[in-house]
Amino acid sequence: MKRRPYPGTDYRRALNIADLERIAQRRLPNFVFEYLQGGADDERTLHRNRTVFRDYLFHPRTLTRVDARHLSTTILGQRHAMPLVIGPTGYNGMLTRDGDLKLAAAASRQDIPFVLSNVATTSLEEIATVEGLRAWMQIYFYRDRDYVRKLVERCHAAGYETIVITTDSAIYGNREWDLRNFRRPMQPDWRNLLHLCSRPRWIADVLIPDGPPTFKNLDDLLPPGQQSVQGASAIIGQQLDPTLNWDDIAWLRDIWQGKLIIKGLLSPEEAAQAAASGIDGIVLSNHGGRQLDHALSPLDILADTRKRVGQRCQLFVDSGFRRGTDIVKALALGADAVWLGRATLYGLAAGGQPGVEHALDILRREIDRTLGLLGETRLADLDASHLVKCHAPNGETGESD
Ligand SMILES: Cc1cc2nc3c(=O)[nH]c(=O)nc-3n(C[C@H](O)[C@H](O)[C@H](O)COP(=O)(O)O)c2cc1C
Repeated sequence: MKRRPYPGTDYRRALNIADLERIAQRRLPNFVFEYLQGGADDERTLHRNRTVFRDYLFHPRTLTRVDARHLSTTILGQRHAMPLVIGPTGYNGMLTRDGDLKLAAAASRQDIPFVLSNVATTSLEEIATVEGLRAWMQIYFYRDRDYVRKLVERCHAAGYETIVITTDSAIYGNREWDLRNFRRPMQPDWRNLLHLCSRPRWIADVLIPDGPPTFKNLDDLLPPGQQSVQGASAIIGQQLDPTLNWDDIAWLRDIWQGKLIIKGLLSPEEAAQAAASGIDGIVLSNHGGRQLDHALSPLDILADTRKRVGQRCQLFVDSGFRRGTDIVKALALGADAVWLGRATLYGLAAGGQPGVEHALDILRREIDRTLGLLGETRLADLDASHLVKCHAPNGETGESD
């Protein structure tokens, strides 16, 4: 039976992440929603990120007493309420004012870590003041290594414990929605400006009184006079460093004594190399389908990667997670936790901080229910024996989700 979508805009009535996605679409201007939603090239990877979960079916047990279930888990040495991390996403201030702070506050309330993007619209120092938050900082490698060094020093001074280095973006992905929607970087074309008139609430929230949000952690990178979003967007593209290689990771390992995570690997061999070089965590990711189109899904290589990495470092995964069943499948295949991208951004756009908390509540309930229905009470007891791999017949994977 086809699901009836929720027709309203009240995030509290959203039953699942797909409902929050629709509410986000109704509340955001088209060009902002498409920035959030879009993928690279023909969006094959974006699409497969959702359909890949159909390749794995559950193999449940019954009669096992599942009344006392626990979702708490250890992430980089600390206990957290559930196996989720809010991953880094740039320009969150375009979804709602102070988007990063709202995500961070929701993460703190739900007792999970939050990763601030390098291209955030809130300074890393401000995020560090959010009470009870375990904040991590994501960085891109720019040609200007002095900037990277200064950013690492800022993280140290602000008390950050973990840096996440994203390695899948040495070259910027081809996102055609963004190219079509803007005349110049961050200058929407007339069709989008017209559509903006139907979003007065968003204008009042995001644009008034200070105009579009700006990048708050790039001051040391941008030349004087190029601090505007338009100027910054062009420079970020030019600054991404295609020479990025293992020597840079070794350099970072040298200047950063805290925990280090590599995000964006899709090769079990590279993951094994990372584990051998003293990395604390790896995120298998295709960047939510926004970088290399036709890239495989992290789920395709998760079990093999776990085998090669062993317990030398933690293994995380992201890209396409929208349901508790998706998350439990990844845990059964060997992930320690799942990082969220769009799932919590939909909550943010739909309802601000309470919207993010609602998204996390939905996922927590879904993970808990799935665990119980599988016949288990602890996440640590999940393994590949709970799954059967099956390939969907031709045609089914082409179905939209
Ligand atoms: C709007 C948006 C902005 C993103 N910005 C960043 C970023 O600044 N740094 C980064 O490492 N990844 C970024 N990502 C990728 C996410 O961290 C994550 O890998 C991806 O969203 C996971 O896929 P999902 O959205 O399907 O969950 C971004 C993703 C989205 C959707």
